[in-house]
Amino acid sequence: MAAQIIDGKALAADIKAQVRAGVQQLAAAGVRPCLAVLLVGDDPASAVYVAGKERDCAECGIQSRMLRLPADTTQQQLLGHLARLAADDEVHGILVQLPLPAQIDPQQVIAAIPPHKDVDGFTPANMGRLLTGQPCLVPCTPAGCLAMLKSTGLSPAGRRAVVVGRSNIVGKPMAALLLANDATVTVCHSKTQGLAGLCAEAEILVAAVGRPGFITGDMVRPGAVVIDVGINRGQNGKLCGDVDFAPAAQKAGFITPVPGGVGLMTRAMLMQNTLRAAQMALEA
Ligand code: GUN
Repeated sequence: MAAQIIDGKALAADIKAQVRAGVQQLAAAGVRPCLAVLLVGDDPASAVYVAGKERDCAECGIQSRMLRLPADTTQQQLLGHLARLAADDEVHGILVQLPLPAQIDPQQVIAAIPPHKDVDGFTPANMGRLLTGQPCLVPCTPAGCLAMLKSTGLSPAGRRAVVVGRSNIVGKPMAALLLANDATVTVCHSKTQGLAGLCAEAEILVAAVGRPGFITGDMVRPGAVVIDVGINRGQNGKLCGDVDFAPAAQKAGFITPVPGGVGLMTRAMLMQNTLRAAQMALEA
């Protein structure tokens, strides 16, 4: 039986409609949510992502401040911009687009974002809060994956979940979020032995490796929920995920497409986090 496709486009549209409604409520209190995005250098993929965020903000009624900085920006200069945005009460969310040029240490930059404005959820404070089960701004891609998973009606509680990839942006917070939702979580990575067998036991399989076709059909358990975080350029130049889609879809119960899947949800969750940051500022 072929899998049901999880429609990221429709889910993201629902979330953005809710964000728009929340933004209108804040307007009544005289607050306009504002997201500042810092892009250093001219990585073409990053430029596309940042332009998408600008459009999403406009669609949701969120104000956006885009700072496009030259590739030779120093760490001190970037930290200076962050200090200014951190102190600006009109700015509710701050996002530094990754990757950063080699002269800049991403950990130091992320740590300079005040946790209550950290709409990426990447600061040590928010990561620690996620891991210890405290309210926090949750990283956008894992939050989007969880929303897609829950849209199937399947509860993660007690399920075997396998996350392939251990990045700070996706794999680690994804594992923490699944654990917080009572799944039994295994994290696999480049050094994992017997990876195919572990994946084949997963009722929930999240692929975040960045390699086209890495998850083959035989690695999918019949009926599994397969969530594909990969955004890769295939040999034919088309966008594709980490999952070999057609054979995986033959076995899975539910599967996310690329494009039209996790990427759109990540963007929607950034809007939701920005709204939340603005609401928190009002309550503070
Ligand atoms: N680069 C790729 N994904 C992301 C993300 O989720 N946040 C930021 N800031 N940069 C990224």
